[in-house]
Amino acid sequence: MRKKLIIGNWKMNKNHYETLDFVNVFSNNINEALVKCNYGVAPSSINLTFTKEAFKNHKKMLIVAQDAHYESHGAFTGNDSWSQLKDNGIVFSIIGHSERRQMFGDSDKLVNLKVKKLLEEKMVPILCIGESLKDREAKNHKAVVTKQLQLALKDVDHELVKKLVIAYEPIWAIGTGKSATSKDAQSMCKEIRTELKTLYDQDVANQVHILYGGSVNAKNGQEYLSQADIDGALVGGASLDPKTFIEILECL
Ligand code: PGA
Repeated sequence: MRKKLIIGNWKMNKNHYETLDFVNVFSNNINEALVKCNYGVAPSSINLTFTKEAFKNHKKMLIVAQDAHYESHGAFTGNDSWSQLKDNGIVFSIIGHSERRQMFGDSDKLVNLKVKKLLEEKMVPILCIGESLKDREAKNHKAVVTKQLQLALKDVDHELVKKLVIAYEPIWAIGTGKSATSKDAQSMCKEIRTELKTLYDQDVANQVHILYGGSVNAKNGQEYLSQADIDGALVGGASLDPKTFIEILECL
C-alpha cells in the first residue's frame, strides 16, 4: 500500500519572516489526527536549513530541495550538490521540474544523471515529467511523457528505482489555474505505472509513488487524491498559504 505524499513546492518564494509566519500558522492549525498522508515543503535552497530549523518541533514535515547537482562538488557556480544537501539532512529533491527544463535548459540527459545519482546515494528524487499544451492538443501527450520517463530512468537500477517518486505535471496546468481533469490525470498516471512495469516489473510499478501536480488546490485536491494511480500531489501556489495547505493535507 502506497501512503499518499503531498509536497508543497514553494519555488522562489518566502523570506525568513514569511517562513516563520507559515510555520507558526501551520503548527497552530494542523490537526494531526486528520492527516493521513506524508507531507513536506520545498523552499529555496538558501532557506532549506532555516526552514528545517523552523520546523524542528514538527519533525513530520519533510524538507525537500528544489534541485540537486549530480556531482558531489566542483566548479558548478550557482548549484547545490546532492552531498551538500545530504550533509544538511536533506534527502528529498525535486528533479527536472518543467520550470528548470524550460528556463534553465535542464535536459533529459541531465535529469537522468541527477535521478541516478540521488537514488545511488539513498536519496529520493521527485522526478517531474509532463507534456506541453501543444503535445496535449496534438494528442502526443502519452508518447511525450513515456519518452521523458524512459530517458530519465536510463540505466537506473531495478532495486533503487523503487524509492523513486514521480510527479506528473502537465506544463499547461502549472500556475495557470487550468488543472487537468481528475480523469485525465488518473489516465496519465496509470500510463506511467504501466510504463514502469514495461521498463522494470510489476513490483516496481506497485511501489513507485506517482503524484499529480498542476493547479492543485483545496477544492480539487480530494478529487485527484481519490484516483487509484495518484499517490499524492505536488502543490505550487496553493502551498504558500499554510491554511490552504492544511486543507489539502486534511482532505484525504
Ligand atoms: P501550481 O504549481 O500548483 O502552482 O500549478 C505546481 C508545480 O509547479 O509544482
